Amino acid sequence: MKKIIFAFPLTAAFLVFMGALAQMNFAAEELNSSNTVNKNKEEAMAPSGTKKILVAYFSYSGNTREIADQIHKIVGGDIFEIQAVNPYPDDYNAVVKQARHELSSGYKPALKTKVEDIKSYDLIFIGYPNWCSTIPAPVKTFLSECDLSGKTIIPFCTHGGGGLGRSVSDISKLCPQSTLLDSFAIPGSDVKTAQSEVSEWLRKIKITK
Ligand SMILES: Cc1cc2nc3c(=O)[nH]c(=O)nc-3n(C[C@H](O)[C@H](O)[C@H](O)COP(=O)(O)O)c2cc1C
Repeated sequence: MKKIIFAFPLTAAFLVFMGALAQMNFAAEELNSSNTVNKNKEEAMAPSGTKKILVAYFSYSGNTREIADQIHKIVGGDIFEIQAVNPYPDDYNAVVKQARHELSSGYKPALKTKVEDIKSYDLIFIGYPNWCSTIPAPVKTFLSECDLSGKTIIPFCTHGGGGLGRSVSDISKLCPQSTLLDSFAIPGSDVKTAQSEVSEWLRKIKITK
């Protein structure tokens, strides 16, 4: 009987000790696995870290240039303005008439300058105003002349109420071998105060953290 009374506290102490050990193991495993999850998430959220970025845009009256500058300030890389050799007329009605004609005829105007070594870029932002519900003809020339296969294209657009129109599907038709990320569209009248919206979008598509 004495033996039993003596053995009981020893067994209890042993069980408490083992329980504490198991608890410590569990905590360490939990810490390890949460570190792995965080690491994977960080990797997924920082695709732009080692990638070379180009912000290419066309702008007739300055709205898209404003957004391009805001993006460029945040993501860095290079910025390039797509310009036709022959500038568009200043008169609004004349430019609308010309844009409609270019669209219906499939015309691709010659561009003033080219991007040097387009092959070296991984992520290419393409900015444009919505013209007749799609991309302006100079952007069409740019996308047709540059081989963007295997690259990631990120469209952004300013507009007068029509949003992206069918611009994104027209871009993907011109660049079938590229990956398109979610695009950004904003009314031209709101571009001056778009900084937080632009930052939020860049976070959402995981270009920034
Ligand atoms: C030729 C032309 C066609 C346009 N067509 C459209 C259109 O179809 N839908 C729309 O929402 N806005 C249209 N707009 C308005 C522009 O998309 C808008 O003002 C844009 O912010 C201008 O950008 P920018 O200053 O960079 O040129 C058009 C403007 C022009 C000059």
